[in-house]
Amino acid sequence: MKYSDTQLNQVIEDVLASSKYRHVAPELVSIVAKQELENQKDLKSAIKETRNRLHQSAGAYLNATPPYAKWRAQMELCDGADALRSASLEWMQAHASTRERLPILSDFYSSVLANIPVPSSIVDIACGLNPLALGWMGLPAGVRYIACDIYADMTQFAADFLTKSGAQGAAMQCDCVTNPPEEAVDIAFILKFLPVLEQYRRGATLDWLQRINARRMLISYPTKSLGGRGKGMAENYEKRFLDAIASTDWQIEKYLFENELCFMVTKGELGT
Ligand SMILES: C[S@@+](CC[C@H](N)C(=O)[O-])C[C@H]1O[C@@H](n2cnc3c(N)ncnc32)[C@H](O)[C@@H]1O
Repeated sequence: MKYSDTQLNQVIEDVLASSKYRHVAPELVSIVAKQELENQKDLKSAIKETRNRLHQSAGAYLNATPPYAKWRAQMELCDGADALRSASLEWMQAHASTRERLPILSDFYSSVLANIPVPSSIVDIACGLNPLALGWMGLPAGVRYIACDIYADMTQFAADFLTKSGAQGAAMQCDCVTNPPEEAVDIAFILKFLPVLEQYRRGATLDWLQRINARRMLISYPTKSLGGRGKGMAENYEKRFLDAIASTDWQIEKYLFENELCFMVTKGELGT
């Protein structure tokens, strides 16, 4: 339908007024709202579809808004790395992506980072609660760790966590589909985000990956849906990924875990 600025503002305000989406980046809500105003027949359907799409790409991973104030109080009481690690195990349960990774966490980073030089700078794109896994990554103290996601409250907690952990951290709210971080880093973590990117922009994977300013990219896909079904998912995602990057000379190493398929991508020659 044709729409006015007033109608656009109405959709944005309505969506941001709900407790589930009030911490989501308004610029992302605006992009999705514009598309749905164009696609839908009336304002009510545009609001409904905008919410649906935000649910699919972000809301579905959180059962409820995590109790960040309570976590912050717990974090202040954590004395030392072991206490922080055991609290993190609890907190990471709140996001489906980190929750699914918990059973393989002790293997995950030690395997995928084993064959590359230890990174001293990282961007964690669409991070969810993954920065809380820092204690399992084997990174040097003072590592530069930049994390971003569309939730302001989540990235604020991640920023506080990184400070508490002694990282040279920064975490910020950002629409990574439109504006992925530009800072040059050793490695970008792009964990389980490419299917989400494709929900916003079908066919965008290669162009988007080419914009990532990192020598290496750790890319992963889920091998089971949020509902627990997984037949053929790993094979389908592997094919889609390899087809998307077929025209590049990137080096790929594949790691298959129980519920996550990973690719360590090196843009250029290996071993440097
Ligand atoms: C499948 S989860 C992956 C989370 C994390 N990378 C991990 O694997 O633990 C997708 C994440 O993308 C975030 N997200 C969705 N749309 C986004 C956008 N446009 N910009 C940044 N983050 C976004 C969601 O909030 C969610 O945390």
